[in-house]
Amino acid sequence: RRTGRASSHGKTILIGEHAVVHGAPALVLPVIDAEVVATVTPLEDVADAAPGSAAGHHLESTVHTGPLDLAPAAVMPTVTAVTATLRHLGVTDRPVHVRVDSQVPTARGMGSSAAVAAAVTAAVADVFGVVLDAETHHELIQECERVAHGSPSGLDARGVVADAPVWFEDGRIEPVALGARFVFVVADTGVPGHTREAVASVRERLDHDPETVRAVIDRIGALARHARGTLEGGDVQALGASMDAAHDLLTSLGVSSPDLDGLVAAARGAGALGAKLTGGGRGGCVLTLAEDDDHADRIAAALRGAGAAATWTTSIGDRV
Ligand code: PMV
Repeated sequence: RRTGRASSHGKTILIGEHAVVHGAPALVLPVIDAEVVATVTPLEDVADAAPGSAAGHHLESTVHTGPLDLAPAAVMPTVTAVTATLRHLGVTDRPVHVRVDSQVPTARGMGSSAAVAAAVTAAVADVFGVVLDAETHHELIQECERVAHGSPSGLDARGVVADAPVWFEDGRIEPVALGARFVFVVADTGVPGHTREAVASVRERLDHDPETVRAVIDRIGALARHARGTLEGGDVQALGASMDAAHDLLTSLGVSSPDLDGLVAAARGAGALGAKLTGGGRGGCVLTLAEDDDHADRIAAALRGAGAAATWTTSIGDRV
C-alpha cells in the first residue's frame, strides 16, 4: 500500500469572462504558483491519528478536518472527488484519508473548487497505482464542479490542469502557441467575488438592451481572438492593450467594483502593460501584465500597497 499524491493549480481568465456565457470564446491561463496538493493514504494507516473515523473516509483541510460524511456543504465537491474516483476505480469499500493543502483562495475566480477536485481525484487514483487519462480526469473534475456550481462550463476544469494557455470555444479546448514569454501578476482584492449575481445581472442587461449588450459581448469575443494572435505573435504591448480594453468593456457591463478598479489603477500606476478584472467580478481578482520578472515584482508590491490581500506572479512561454 502506498501514499497517493497529486497537485494542480489555480487558473485565471485572460480575456472572455461573461462574454463566454453568451457564446464568445475565452482564453484561460494557468496560475502555476497557486498550488493545490492532495495527499491520500489508506485510512488504516492513520486511524490512530484520526479517532472515530475508521468507518468512513477522513478529510484534513482548512475548511474541515474530520470524518468525510460529516463535512459541511462547502466541501461537498471534495466528498464527490473521493467517492466518484473510488467508484470509477471499483474500490468503494477502501477508506482513505485525504489531506488538502491549497494556496488557491476560494470564491476569487481562481478555480479553487476545480483545482481541489483535480488534485484529490488524481491523488485517490494514485493510491491505487492508477494514472487517470486526461478525459476521465476531466469528467471526474466536472462531476465535482456540478456539485459546486450547478452547470460549469468546463473552463475551470481545463485551466487548473493546463500548463499553457487554453483557448475555449463552444465547449472545446485548444492549446495556444506562444511567440514570446509573458509575465502576469494576479492580485486578490480580498473580497469574495459574486460570479452568480454578476452573470445574472449581465443577462438582465442583455434582456433589457439586447443591441448594446450584444455589441459589447461581440467586442469582448473579438478581443479574445485578437489576444490569441498577440500570444502567438509574441506582441506583449498589444496584449496589454487588449486587457485594458477588456476591463473597460466589463466595466460597461457593470461587473467591476471600486476594489477591482483600485487595483487596476495601482497596476497601471506601476506601469503595467495591461490590467483588468478577471473572472466573475464584483470582487475577486485582477490580472495584470508586466514587462519582465523585475517589473512584475514592482507591480506586485504596488498592488499589495494598494490593499491586495495576496499576489501571484505567473509566466507562460518560458521555453520560447
Ligand atoms: O469567477 P470565475 O473565474 O468562476 O469565472 C466566471 C466566468 C464567467 O464567464 C463570468 C462565468 C462563466 O460561467 O463562464
